[in-house]
Formats: sequence, structure tokens, C-alpha cells
Amino acid sequence: MAKTRYSFVQRLLHWIIALLVFGLLAMGFTFWSLGFEGVKGMFGAELTNTFYTMHKSFGILLFFLVVLRLLLFRFWPAPPYETPLSGTERVVSATTHALLYLLLIGIPIGGWLATSISGFPVQFFGWSQPGLDPANKELGSQLFLMHGIGGLVLLAVLLLHIGAGIKHWKLKDGIMKRISLP
Ligand code: HEM
Repeated sequence: MAKTRYSFVQRLLHWIIALLVFGLLAMGFTFWSLGFEGVKGMFGAELTNTFYTMHKSFGILLFFLVVLRLLLFRFWPAPPYETPLSGTERVVSATTHALLYLLLIGIPIGGWLATSISGFPVQFFGWSQPGLDPANKELGSQLFLMHGIGGLVLLAVLLLHIGAGIKHWKLKDGIMKRISLP
């Protein structure tokens, strides 16, 4: 019988990526609404620096994990469905998944560019790359705005994706089983 679930590595990656995205979105929207000074006023300078370093480091990690997930399709293509999807479901799910990949690749690259062009260091845990000197603050803030708008679009697409996931979980049609860990 043909396998109808993703491999364990693909399923594990899906949920690690999901956790990272939830954390990064929560941090990102907090930074966006309060600004650096606002976050500092609320949490203090040391914790604020840690939050920004974490956001950059986990954002870069997310980028590499998404690239890895895409590369794994060469070895493990998406499995067939237990019950074939309708034409509409196929179009909606393919479009949603393509948008998710596009955003999960584009948003971290945008964040990297915005950080660097604004003259801030790009940090990946222990590694640090200094920002551009001289910085272009104007272009940097335009890119940060696009990075934030990307986050909002991602949130909207995710709500659709999670809504569909919950619907299929309730229907018990085997789709949730394709990606669930146990
Ligand atoms: C930040 C959170 C999440 C991200 C970024 C994300 C991303 C993705 C992506 C890109 C796929 C497509 C896999 C492929 O290429 O074939 C996928 C599949 C799937 N996801 Fe998520 N996901 C997230 C959260 C969730 C949650 C919370 C649920 C459950 C409510 C869920 C349920 C599913 C299911 C059932 C599939 C398999 C769909 C299918 O094979 O047709 N995901 N997810």
C-alpha cells in the first residue's frame, strides 16, 4: 500500500518550523508596535538586546530549515492522499502551500537585508556580521516595513492554513495524520 504520510523527518520539520514561526511573529509584531525604545522601556536594555538577537538568529535558522524542507522533496515527494482532493481543494491547498514557502523564504531574506542596510549587525547565535557602513537608514526602514507587511500576509495565510487543518482534523479524513507527529 502506498504511504499517505510525510516521512518522520518532514513531519518533525513541519512542527519545528511552526513553533519558530509562532515565536518569530509574536516577537516581530511586539517590536513593530512598541519600537526598540518601547521594548527597552518595558523589558530593560539587556533583555531587549537578547530578544533582537534571538529574532535574528531564529529567523535565519527558520530560513535554512525551510530550504532543507524544500530540498527533502527530492528524496521524499509529497505522498498521495488517502481520499483524493476535489479540484477546488487542490488549487486552494497548492496556492496556500506555495505562498507559505514564498513568505517563509522571502521574509527572513528581507529581515537580513533590512538589518544590514540599516547598519545593524546580523547575528546568528555566536556569529555576527557587522551592518553596512555607511548605512542607508531610509532604504532600511522601507525594507523593515516590507518585512513587517510580509509578516501580516503570512499571518493571514496561516489562519487559512490552520483553519483548513482544524477542519480536516474534525472530519478525520486522514489529512491531519499526514503531518501529525505520532
Ligand atoms: C506557523 C505554522 C505553520 C506553518 C508555517 C505551516 C506550513 C506548512 C506547509 C508549507 C505545508 C505544506 C507541506 C507540503 O509542501 O506538502 C504544511 C502542511 C500541512 N500543515 Fe502546516 N504549517 C503550520 C502550522 C500548522 C498547524 C497549526 C496545523 C494544524 C492545525 C497544520 C496542518 C497541516 C496539515 C494537515 C498539512 C498537510 C496538508 C497536505 O498534505 O495537504 N499546519 N504546513
